[in-house]
Amino acid sequence: MPASIVLGTQWGDEGKGKAVDYLADRMDFVVRYQGGNNAGHTVIAEGRLLKLQLTPSGILYDHITSVIADGVVVDPQHLLKEMAELSELGIDVSRLVVSGNCHMIMPYHLELEKVTERFLGKNALGTTKRGIGPAYGDKAARIGLRIQDLYDEQIFRQKLDIVLREKNLVLSKIYGRLPLEAEQIVEDYMGYAELLRPHVGDASKLLHEGLRAGKHVMLEGAQGTLLDLDHGTYPFVTSSNPVAGYALASAGIGPREVDRVIGIVKAYVTRVGAGPFPTEDFGPDGDRMSVRGKEFGTVTGRKRRCGWFDAALGRYAARVNGLTELFVTKLDVLSGFESLRICTGYRAGGEVFDDFPPHQSLFHDAEPIYEELEGWHQEIDEIGSYDGLPAPAKKYVDRIQDLLGVPVSVVSVGPARGQSLPVG
Ligand code: GDP
Ligand code: IMO
Ligand code: MG
Repeated sequence: MPASIVLGTQWGDEGKGKAVDYLADRMDFVVRYQGGNNAGHTVIAEGRLLKLQLTPSGILYDHITSVIADGVVVDPQHLLKEMAELSELGIDVSRLVVSGNCHMIMPYHLELEKVTERFLGKNALGTTKRGIGPAYGDKAARIGLRIQDLYDEQIFRQKLDIVLREKNLVLSKIYGRLPLEAEQIVEDYMGYAELLRPHVGDASKLLHEGLRAGKHVMLEGAQGTLLDLDHGTYPFVTSSNPVAGYALASAGIGPREVDRVIGIVKAYVTRVGAGPFPTEDFGPDGDRMSVRGKEFGTVTGRKRRCGWFDAALGRYAARVNGLTELFVTKLDVLSGFESLRICTGYRAGGEVFDDFPPHQSLFHDAEPIYEELEGWHQEIDEIGSYDGLPAPAKKYVDRIQDLLGVPVSVVSVGPARGQSLPVG
């Protein structure tokens, strides 16, 4: 049976949690494939509101096995806390599987990110300070510790001693911080090891066997295409790859297993943290999106920057991910605007671009080219079918579809599972 990939097409917070929860009812596995607890995915269903950071967004369904695949960086203390909180809400987390190959976020990653962001001053990236960049950095430098290292205490200590020697020098000699104690880390992590033991498994093998047995697999990305380490607005990106290609690398399954790549598209655009954002609106329209869309970060509570829908970036996301369909979210937030703008390209450096400009300096100075569409006045969050939407709202969705060249399969008009309107 084929697998599908669900991912963000913008700078994150497109509504991936809501979309995955809605789409997951026919799935057998829902798999998180990158990022860590920098993500915040909101699910509102069955009378519950969940803010998931590491747990895949299919956790509400009893028949689904939730999997955290190799490419995710796991803060074990955070994972255990999230699992305990879900259990307290009566949600069964016993089937959660975390790959033994996942790299762990260690206390020195958190310490180092704090001091390096401070060191960057006004050039700081505005990260979520969850240790994501330092953990992926150590993975690439081949000095990371993996979940499986927890189950050989001698190896864990050895690796920790080697890495801590260097980290403590950096922390104390460069940043004037107190060095970290290996003993304390060993004690804490051996405690996490015991609690996590029943959940640690071989994600790739599990998924391979599932696919062979005709099971349905959904691969869930975190962040978004423009935050991708390779394809995003570097250096204002996260340290992993949200794009579709990485879902396969992380889950350890082949490209021929995948037949759907679903791009989650917010009907406008938001961004948290620093970096270019050509369609950002600093006036009352941006404020209206922020208030109506409740645009505050799920993880850090920071106010999200808001702006108009950017079809040039949407086309780019469709291209680099090979999107087969779009799931448009938060259309309800745009009700009541007299008119709406969609960016179709940019002017920069005396040229016109209808795609992501080839040099970052051009993107930083890009002036959006807008077309204007008619707004609609009535609230749409209680409308129960796509056909029932006001004509200008359907026109707006049609225009997104035409400009991106990818069909829209669902339009979301509210945060709850039921507020999802299949198209056609
Ligand atoms: P994610 O990180 O992509 O999963 O998105 P977040 O959960 O961080 O942010 C999306 C926010 O919008 C959450 O608070 C959702 O509950 C909410 N949301 C999702 N879809 C809709 C929608 O169609 N309309 C409205 N009004 N809110 C939505
Ligand atoms: P979800 O999955 C929005 C942003 C941070 C910062 C940059 C790097 O909920 O869509 P990091 O801590 O990853 O090193 O920070 O990336 N960022 C997100 N923005 N949604 C997210 O996740 C994000 N995860 C990271 O704000 O600008
Ligand atoms: Mg989020």
